[in-house]
Formats: sequence, structure tokens, C-alpha cells
Amino acid sequence: MGAVHTGIPREMAVAIGAMLELADFVEGGTHHGITAAWAAASFERVTSIERSPTLYSMAQAACGHLRNVDLRLGDTRTVLPALVSSLTRPAMFWLDSHWSGPGTAGEDAECPLVAEISAIRGSDLDHVILVDDARYFLAPPPPPHDWRAWPSLGEVLRLLGAPERCWTFVLDDVLFALPSASRARLAPVLQLRAAGDAATLAERLAARKPGRARAMVERLAGPFRAKRS
Ligand SMILES: C[S@@+](CC[C@H](N)C(=O)[O-])C[C@H]1O[C@@H](n2cnc3c(N)ncnc32)[C@H](O)[C@@H]1O
Repeated sequence: MGAVHTGIPREMAVAIGAMLELADFVEGGTHHGITAAWAAASFERVTSIERSPTLYSMAQAACGHLRNVDLRLGDTRTVLPALVSSLTRPAMFWLDSHWSGPGTAGEDAECPLVAEISAIRGSDLDHVILVDDARYFLAPPPPPHDWRAWPSLGEVLRLLGAPERCWTFVLDDVLFALPSASRARLAPVLQLRAAGDAATLAERLAARKPGRARAMVERLAGPFRAKRS
């Protein structure tokens, strides 16, 4: 699955956005506005939806002043359909609106992903969809989450329209659904990323067990270094 780390894999998101010429970034679940503020520097227009009035106000204070950030107070299940209809070009959707414990919205409807994907797939445009916390769909989410509120991986893939409509993979705990036609261009970029990860891992291992790891470092890191230079 790759490393589990919190938040959007920024380099990958920027690379995909640039390669597919995506101008719009739409986020479900603003929380404190950290991702919205970051996305404002990489996308022409950022729209982020938050159901909790308190978190919405906090995000307004944090990034509401940015000229290309549009924060909306509401439930993605009701806000997204009209928002998707208003788009005239493919966008990147960062779907991260789910109940995340005390102080966040959604305890009564923990995971709105089914409605969100259905709204996005109501459009003919080839949108890019990134779903955070992929591990919660690969297996039932841990307590105190109510597993019945979370779709299974199979349901998510079916709603996304995989494999005909999109190319799906999981990286850094994020489920990516990209237009099928983009695979030939983007897969080599992901290979470089995988090679980089393997090289870093091997280098760390080499620091602890030089004898055993030297050959592995050369095998993995060598070609990657050559490609980079
Ligand atoms: C994991 S946090 C989002 C983190 C944020 N996307 C980031 O990258 O920093 C999930 C957020 O979704 C919000 N939320 C939960 N259900 C929602 C819904 N149906 N519509 C909109 N926001 C929702 C929660 O209040 C919480 O702030």
C-alpha cells in the first residue's frame, strides 16, 4: 500500500495536476484549511466544503482571505451535486470528509463517500479523484467507527467506474482514480517515485547493516541515481 502518512501526497498531487492541466481543486472536509491553503499555491481555484460551523469559521480565519479559495459551509452530500454541475473542465477532487472524532462533523453519517463519488460521476468530465484514508476501505475502519457506515473497496471501485472509466491504485494511504487515458503518461512518473522510495529504504538499511545492504543499495539506487542525473 505504501507508507501511511497524513494528508494529501503533495508532490504527487501537484505532478498529476500539472500533467493533466487541472486548474480546479475541490476538497471535501476543510477541517482547519491546511490543505486548502496549500492547494491555493498550486491550483487556479480551490473550493473546500466543511460541515462543522466551528471548523468552517476556523478555516475562514486561516485561509478565507486567499483570493482563489472558496470555502463553503455545508454537507458534501448536498453541496457537491451543484458544484460538480458548475464545472466546465476536469478538476482534482480530494475526498476527505468523514467523521474524524470529537470536534468534527459527521458522527451521524460517518462517511459520505458514496454520495460524493455519485455526484462526481454524474458528470461526463474526466475528473481526477483522490480518496484519503484508503485503509478504511481496504478493511473495516477501526473502532470507534461504525463499519456499516463505510463502503467496501468493491463498492467504491464500482462507483468510480473502474477499471473502464478510470485507472485506480493506492499510494500513501490514498486511493487514486485517474482517467484511464492518463496511465501511459503517469505510470512512469510513479515508477520513479517507487524507485526513489526503495533507494531511500535501502540507504537507511545500509546505514545499519552495511555488509548485507550494499548490494541491495547498488541494485535499487544505482539505476535511479543514473536516471536522475
Ligand atoms: C480528516 S478531516 C479533513 C482534513 C482536511 N481535508 C485536510 O487535508 O487537512 C475531515 C473533515 O470532514 C468534515 N466532515 C465530516 N463529514 C462531512 C460532510 N458530510 N461534509 C463536509 N464535511 C464533512 C469534518 O468536520 C472534518 O473537518
